[in-house]
Amino acid sequence: MSELSRRDFMKGAVIGTAALSAGGLFVGCAPKSSASSSASSQTSSSSSATTDTASYVLDPKTAPDASTGHNFDVAPDSKTTVGTTLENLKSAIAGETAATTKYATWAQAAEKEGFPELKRLFTCTSDAEKIHIELEYALASKLDPSYQKPAVPDVPTYTSGINLIEAANGEIYETSDMYPSFIKAAQAEGNTEAVQIFTRAKLAEAYHAERYLNAYSMIDTPSDEKYYLCPVCGYIHKGENFTACPICLTPKASFKAY
Ligand SMILES: [Fe+2]
Ligand SMILES: [Fe+2]
Repeated sequence: MSELSRRDFMKGAVIGTAALSAGGLFVGCAPKSSASSSASSQTSSSSSATTDTASYVLDPKTAPDASTGHNFDVAPDSKTTVGTTLENLKSAIAGETAATTKYATWAQAAEKEGFPELKRLFTCTSDAEKIHIELEYALASKLDPSYQKPAVPDVPTYTSGINLIEAANGEIYETSDMYPSFIKAAQAEGNTEAVQIFTRAKLAEAYHAERYLNAYSMIDTPSDEKYYLCPVCGYIHKGENFTACPICLTPKASFKAY
C-alpha cells in the first residue's frame, strides 16, 4: 500500500480496544469541538453523522487498522455472502435494520418484565444501529441513488435473558464475520470510505456484544449505571469512567446517556 493510500485509509480509522481502559489518554488528542458539537442531532441526521465522521482524522501512528489489527479475521465457516461493496452495504443495512428493530422490541419486553436497566441497554443499542444504518445508507445512496432503505421486518421476542443472548450472538456474528468480510471486499475495491464505515461499525459491534453479555450475567443483580452512546460511531460505554470514544475519539460530553 502506498504511503498516500495508506494514510487515506487510516483517516478516521480505529484505535485498539486496549485504549478503552486508558480513556484518559484521549484528553490530549480528542478532536476539536467542531466535529462533536452537534451530538444531539447526529443520532437522527444521516448527513450530519457522515460529515462529522469524515471530519475525524486519527493519528496514523497510533491507530491500528484492518490491515494491521489482529481482530479483523473472518470467522471460520463464514455465513456471510460477499458481493460488491454496494451489495455489501445493502446487506449490512438490512442486518442493522433487523437489529435495531429487534432491540426496540426487546426494550419494550424488558420493561414489561420489570428490567428497566435492560430497557435502557436495548434502547441505547437500537439507537446505535440506527447510526450505522445512516452512515451505510449515505454511502449506498451515493453509489446507487435509486436505493431505498429496506422495510422493517417482523422480529421474534423471547424472555429478556434469551433476548440478550440472541442479541449478543447477532453482534458477535457482525463483528467477527459480516463486517470483516465486507471490509476485505471494500479494501480490494479500494473503497476507503466503505472500509472506514464498516470498520467503525465492526468495532462498535464487539462492544455491543460485551454490554449484552455483561447484562446477561448481571440480570438478577443489575446496576443503575447509565449507558452512553457515541453519536458518531455507535460505541456504547457503561458507567461514568471514560473521557472519549475509544473508536472515533468523540468526547464524552457529546455522548447521549440512557
Ligand atoms: Fe450492534
Ligand atoms: Fe465513537
